Amino acid sequence: MADDPHFETRAIHVGQDADEATGATIVPIYQTATFTQDAIGTNRGYEYSRSGNPTRDALEAALASLEGGRFGFAYGSGMAAIHGVMQLLSTGDHVVVCDDLYGGSYRLFTTVMSGFGVRFSFVDATALDQIERAIGSATKMLWIETPTNPMLRMIDIAACADIARRNGLTFVVDNTFASPYLQNPLELGAHVVAHSTTKYIGGHSDVIGGALVVDDEEIAKRLRFTRNASGGVPGPWDAWLTLRGAKTLALRMRQHETNAKQVAEFLRQRPEVQHVHYPGFPDHPGHELAKRQMRGFGGMVTIDLAGGEAVAKAFAESTRYFSLGESLGGVESLIGYPWTMSHGAFAPEAKRSKGITEATVRLSVGIEHADDLCADLAQALECAASAR
Ligand SMILES: Cc1ncc(COP(=O)(O)O)c(C=O)c1O
Repeated sequence: MADDPHFETRAIHVGQDADEATGATIVPIYQTATFTQDAIGTNRGYEYSRSGNPTRDALEAALASLEGGRFGFAYGSGMAAIHGVMQLLSTGDHVVVCDDLYGGSYRLFTTVMSGFGVRFSFVDATALDQIERAIGSATKMLWIETPTNPMLRMIDIAACADIARRNGLTFVVDNTFASPYLQNPLELGAHVVAHSTTKYIGGHSDVIGGALVVDDEEIAKRLRFTRNASGGVPGPWDAWLTLRGAKTLALRMRQHETNAKQVAEFLRQRPEVQHVHYPGFPDHPGHELAKRQMRGFGGMVTIDLAGGEAVAKAFAESTRYFSLGESLGGVESLIGYPWTMSHGAFAPEAKRSKGITEATVRLSVGIEHADDLCADLAQALECAASAR
């Protein structure tokens, strides 16, 4: 293999040598809970699948390579991975979090972790001074998601890393929306990268999973211990499906991006659409930052419909190729209504302060033909017009 293989090559080869026992070219699904030991205290590298499993190891090696870290940890879901990061904290610790984040993370922080005495301050992390002001003597962690969900704002990862470094904080980036193909937060100074692999990495909406990637040996040691102690691992079959998805991440992301651009431009021309949030537009407030810290603008487009709630709901219910559903990042296009779906856990005033309204609709643009997707959106806009 070349000394420094490209992303596409690493996605297909890292951690995926031919199976030593059989020569199987593709990593086998080691669907076993336990491993027979040669003698008491002598095993062949594995003893019990919560602690370690060869299929999961292959996935973790591949994901670590794609994110540019030395250590990968796969979890049973994105939320299990995020909970894994929370286990680095103790009672009394304080975390500064960007306020425009996935509703499930918000729910975990405010309803579960708060019960263990961990405190959270939610700030507009696009304004770096707000982060600085929220840091106190108990602050141990800075947590961001960028691009943000669902408004696709950009947060400056390198600047946040600098704040974290100066204040001795563990800096975590949920990189689900960008995927490792478009953005590598560890290279910009993050300590931990979190993923819902359910989304772009898995890519086919057929498996729930999560992952963390770190380069710091001490953090890796703690994550390895807490994950084994608390048990949030994926099964071998799910790890295998995720690994299979990851092989085509680069190809898929390129097509998601091409399609999202065409869809965003199409929607911008339509009088029924009040605003299109898409970082690929030069007048998007985060466009220049996106160009600096990402290698593309991704496959997500969020819009505000001019006709308000009734039209937005009718629109979301009228598409044919865009399936109305939770999630994002699959090959098939999805449409979501953040007000009650992904962001249902937030209070109405919290949603409004982030710019999410009853007229907001989020599109995860898939890899179908972009002309068909635009035609679908056009007919849905026409159907929705009668809901005014
Ligand atoms: C940005 C982000 N992080 C984390 C999660 C949680 O992942 P999972 O649903 O795999 O638990 C999601 C799910 O939508 C997400 O969008």
